[in-house]
Amino acid sequence: IYILGSDKPLRDLRLLVTAGPTWESIDPVRVITNRSSGKMGFEIARMAARLGAEVTLIAGPTCLRPPFFIKEYVSIESAQQMFEETMKRFESVDGVIMAAAVADYTPALKSSSKLKKSEERLSIELIKTKDILEELGRKKSKQILVGFAVETEELETYAEQKLRKKNLDMIVANEVQAMGSDQNTVTIIKRDGSKKRVGPDAKDRIALAILDELAHLWRGS
Ligand code: CTP
Ligand code: CA
Repeated sequence: IYILGSDKPLRDLRLLVTAGPTWESIDPVRVITNRSSGKMGFEIARMAARLGAEVTLIAGPTCLRPPFFIKEYVSIESAQQMFEETMKRFESVDGVIMAAAVADYTPALKSSSKLKKSEERLSIELIKTKDILEELGRKKSKQILVGFAVETEELETYAEQKLRKKNLDMIVANEVQAMGSDQNTVTIIKRDGSKKRVGPDAKDRIALAILDELAHLWRGS
């Protein structure tokens, strides 16, 4: 692959990576979240830093330790916090890889005291969170935008729709079975319609393949 040909192929690339799930508070002890270990995003951040990129990692709650050699590690909880921390830095980066599993909905009311159980049924009203990637897609100037898509069916069709809707340069279609695992199989889809299937392979090697495609886009080759 391209990036193996040089020493620090991503030198001078300022890259923002998001990873992990978000936590949406119901009350002080309960949250709504997504099944995401954060491993894929952390591997991308770790490999990108090794390849010379200046990496900022914005991560939701995970059991993982921040990778060495990244420039900045920002720990957040909610989708709203991830939105704010991402937006703050967008102008000063060359690319964003949104590997985070952002919650689509958050409780309309967050109770400041613990809810006590009573009725047999309980409904919680949820409101939509901001779509971070879609907002970046509207704002982008020269930045390269990479999204992820996890689906249970019609993986590539839905992924391509998200690529267009969010004005992305590339989307990584991810199989649900990968969640929590150290292995992954992905299809990397670009704006020009090209598709590349990678894996099953360890997540660090999948990360390398994604960064290789990013390097091509960045260098315009
Ligand atoms: N994403 C985001 N902000 C959100 C929701 C998702 O930035 N509030 C990003 C994810 O990080 C991912 C991409 O959008 O890179 C696609 O996420 P996905 O959940 O697959 O798609 P959605 O657009 O949320 O649609 P749905 O969940 O209904 O399939
Ligand atoms: Ca979603």
